[in-house]
Amino acid sequence: MTRGADLMTEKRSSIHGQWSSRFIFILAAVGSAVGLGNIWKFPYITGENGGGAFVLVYLVCIALIGVPIMIAEILLGRRGRQSPINTMRSLVQDEQAHPAWSLLGWGGVITGFLILSYYSVIAGWALAYVFRAASGAFNGATAETIAAQFDGFLSAPLSVLAWHSIFMVMTMVVVARGVRGGLEKAVTFLMPALFVLLLVLVGYAMSLGAFSEGLDFLFSPNFEKVFYHCEVTAAGVEQCRFTGEPMLVALGHAFFTLSLGMGAIMVYGSYMPANASIARATFAIVAADTAVALLAGMAIFPIVFSNGLEAAAGPGLIFQTLPIAFGAMPGGQFFGTLFFLLLVFAAWSSAISLIEPAVAWLVENHGMKRVSAAVLMGVLAWILGIGTVLSFNLLSGEEFQLFGKTIFDLLDYLTANILLPLGGLFIALFAGWIMSRSASMDELRMRDGMGYKTWSLLVRYISPLLVAIVFFNAIGII
Ligand code: PHE
Repeated sequence: MTRGADLMTEKRSSIHGQWSSRFIFILAAVGSAVGLGNIWKFPYITGENGGGAFVLVYLVCIALIGVPIMIAEILLGRRGRQSPINTMRSLVQDEQAHPAWSLLGWGGVITGFLILSYYSVIAGWALAYVFRAASGAFNGATAETIAAQFDGFLSAPLSVLAWHSIFMVMTMVVVARGVRGGLEKAVTFLMPALFVLLLVLVGYAMSLGAFSEGLDFLFSPNFEKVFYHCEVTAAGVEQCRFTGEPMLVALGHAFFTLSLGMGAIMVYGSYMPANASIARATFAIVAADTAVALLAGMAIFPIVFSNGLEAAAGPGLIFQTLPIAFGAMPGGQFFGTLFFLLLVFAAWSSAISLIEPAVAWLVENHGMKRVSAAVLMGVLAWILGIGTVLSFNLLSGEEFQLFGKTIFDLLDYLTANILLPLGGLFIALFAGWIMSRSASMDELRMRDGMGYKTWSLLVRYISPLLVAIVFFNAIGII
């Protein structure tokens, strides 16, 4: 027997508890994956990057990179049964690998903290919009009024800061209560409700004249428009050059939306019951996540086109489009309130997974109480979040930008386009090359058949190669 298999005989267990069932694990992971990434970010980056071709690249990244790396990340988590930092340490020992691999756990903790800082601010916007929708502010409003309301909202830093603070407190409360405390139950009802509500919105979008235009934008790829950046020279000649940037954004988003590359899925995997199939759970999680993103796109773009709005409006896109629909449809005040409420819940169940790796580590290594660990991490992320709050008002001017990016843009770019793909790359390499085959087969509960061989091929060669190519191309190395 090889080392990996020997070690399997003494199974680890998590000191933080375990999900009550395989189904609950899937729900929790879907809770982490489905969030602002699907409903807020996917539509606006699709709008900014020209539509169809971008969506296609995103879907290819999900299938060829997202699926195998999610399997790898859950596998590492369940094998290590601790916070990502300690999981990586233990696995390094099991496999007698180079200690530098433990940095993967650290990278994840830092990335999660950086993401949470801005995630909470945007979730705060959604929270504010629950009350705005409930007050009837959207009823019969025109696109201009809605846009003006949003601009007015963003320009008042103190109120945005207050919503950011409320959301951060909500996140700390749940994380402080631990794996089973409350959220499991909430997710069971809220995620399906969100799904149904998205269907209602798509139904509304179908009634608009621009429905097919919206679908066209999303699903008919026009590679030239997306991957060639054209400029007219002084002599009046149009010059186009290939740009890898949209591909990097699509790749980064595949990681972001599936919560991959920073230990969130790893730590959730560490609470997964031993008898559950990792591959099957992965397919369910990925399918749910992708469906929600595509539905959100199908609801939003018809509204954009039928109101003559800008698809490339940026981070405000859903706040400037969906309220128009709520303002115009029967029962819109009710549906609008419910929608933003569910969006807050979706963001909530994602936010907790962003600090769980850090909290689990503080509890394991520093004997901290869960409550103190959650408060510490939450407060730190809250402070950094102030930078994002101000990116949309006081610090939005060019004199406060670096490389033409605000603090929010920089955090988003650094985390989604650089840190998550790098984290994912190393997770793939560790699971594919460092971990012994017997150990990965054992943990995946797979024989050496087609399924395992396909995964192994993807995680060893295809995903790392694709991530590396896109990544180095976009940062200008190849
Ligand atoms: N997947 C979440 C979303 O789409 C965000 C997230 C990223 C959560 C990374 C955890 C880790 O909103």
